Amino acid sequence: MNRTLLILICTIGMITGCYYDKEDILNPDTGNCSTINTTYQGTVVPLLQASGCLNCHSGGAPSGNVSLATYTSVKTVAQNGKLFGSINHSPGFSPMPQGGNKMSSCNISKIKAWIDAGSINN
Ligand code: HEC
Repeated sequence: MNRTLLILICTIGMITGCYYDKEDILNPDTGNCSTINTTYQGTVVPLLQASGCLNCHSGGAPSGNVSLATYTSVKTVAQNGKLFGSINHSPGFSPMPQGGNKMSSCNISKIKAWIDAGSINN
């Protein structure tokens, strides 16, 4: 009786263990996402470029009157909450990138780390 119980507990442990291993592979976001050394020039600008944000948010007539082409203008939406709200698809904000794929949660947390650290020009 006791042995059966022990085997049962071990089996459950093995199954859930495997399940979590699999999750980590399928969703790398749950694994090694480091927000250390997140900087404006080294992290935020390349992510905005790679996500296509500048296709719409630069030039003389940027979409939504939101420019992401200069540090000062990025800082404005960083500090008023719109940058994080839009990339995180938070309620009350327009989900960005418009017409594109949501940024990975790791990249969203990197931008959030930069915002939370004061959105400095580093
Ligand atoms: C295809 C064009 C397009 C792309 C690409 C795009 N945007 Fe936008 N964005 C818009 C338009 C149009 C608006 C204004 C209308 C609206 O709010 O839906 C807007 C609005 C915004 C706003 C204001 C949101 C609000 O709720 O007031 C922010 C911040 C923003 N975009 C950031 C981004 C970021 C960051 C990216 C890249 C991850 C991005 N956008 C990609 C077209 C785009």
